[in-house]
Amino acid sequence: MRTKHRPGPYDEYLQANADDEAVDAGPADGLLSAGRMLARFGDVEVLVVRTRRGLFAVENCCPHLGRPLSDAFVSGRRVVCQGHHRRYDLSSGKEVGRPAAGPARLRTFDIDIIGDRVWLRPKTR
Ligand code: FES
Repeated sequence: MRTKHRPGPYDEYLQANADDEAVDAGPADGLLSAGRMLARFGDVEVLVVRTRRGLFAVENCCPHLGRPLSDAFVSGRRVVCQGHHRRYDLSSGKEVGRPAAGPARLRTFDIDIIGDRVWLRPKTR
């Protein structure tokens, strides 16, 4: 006997984002308890962090010399690379704090938590 499928939050999410490239990044419980997690978006490793300013997802690779940001200091909306202490805005990905900051920019992602899963998609704004 087949039970009737009842649409839930996941179905609504898929319907609303049918044209997006949303990727299931894994369970949300680790992110919510530990405050950070690593995920994959295709061949890009993504650092997902929870701060008092919200949830943010950026490429886990410093644009300066490519050091991973997984051990970086994170506060508010900023991440500080442990390599040479360059700072980036977690929301825009732009480097901050240097007058002559160049085009260095982290790739950023939108995050949704649907049920107990973290979903990522390329930032649209
Ligand atoms: S590698 Fe990140 S600041 Fe140099």
